[in-house]
Amino acid sequence: MSTQNTAPIAEATSPGTRIQQHRTYLMCRPEHFTVSYTINPWMEPANPTDTAKAVAQWQTLYDAYVALGHDVRLIDAIPGLPDMVYTANGGFVIDGVAYGAKFRFAERAPEGPAFMDWFRASGFDVAEPVEVNEGEGDFLLVGDTILAGTGFRSTGDSHRELGDVFGREVVSLNLVDPRFYHLDTAISVLDPVEGPGGVEKANIAYLPAAFDAPSRGILEDRYPDAIRVADEDGAVFGLNSASDGFNVLISPRATGFEAQLRERGYNPVLIDLSELLLGGGGIKCCTLELRHGQETTR
Ligand code: ARG
Repeated sequence: MSTQNTAPIAEATSPGTRIQQHRTYLMCRPEHFTVSYTINPWMEPANPTDTAKAVAQWQTLYDAYVALGHDVRLIDAIPGLPDMVYTANGGFVIDGVAYGAKFRFAERAPEGPAFMDWFRASGFDVAEPVEVNEGEGDFLLVGDTILAGTGFRSTGDSHRELGDVFGREVVSLNLVDPRFYHLDTAISVLDPVEGPGGVEKANIAYLPAAFDAPSRGILEDRYPDAIRVADEDGAVFGLNSASDGFNVLISPRATGFEAQLRERGYNPVLIDLSELLLGGGGIKCCTLELRHGQETTR
């Protein structure tokens, strides 16, 4: 256990030293977005959705990434697959290898092959999944380690398969609150890479209440400097954010998390995806990182 959380913020974090890293993302314009079924507690088909509003809000996220200098690739939206906008679930990609998704629910099952087709056509090597897993929704790369969530969607067996595919350490974490059913709703990777000279710089923010006690213990031990986000910020999907090491795109409703990020020297960029939250997704859900290898790990 660590007491470092009580250390002076300035000393622990040195504002101004954050380094932005170039990213390549895969997104899907929500042209067919609606909520026609319920596979998470946020989805209520009786509530009307506004596809044009979803597209407009999504566009602000797309435009923000481009304005920050990132590359954004697009996969075509398929009619009848309203959740395809949440590209984070389409796979998990490191060094040009894409581990495909195998969705838990039948409603999303056709997305798995659709994303694998896109990966192949775009020059990625595809590792076809045997086990149920929902891609970067549940798998997060932090330094050399993959944090892997289970409890609602991806299975523990997929964590083993993930380790076999990438040959990296996989740390399993148990999610316990149905509102936070994917790992990317409960953890945000702020600095995914290690600093020069192997200095461990990787850091995260997380929502402690989303995990069981053993998993909380693992997070406390491994990331003593992590930002622990308050329940009210977690409840508005504040953790479902995307960081490039300096800019952190977050929900404007997560005001406490926004302040914590500023104190640590990050630059919060506020993007409102309220319409997409009706499907139980936010910024990170709409974003899949494509790690080609050399050129994206700079
Ligand atoms: N409606 C989608 C589902 O329940 C939302 C997915 C959100 N994606 C994510 N990466 N958390 O599967």
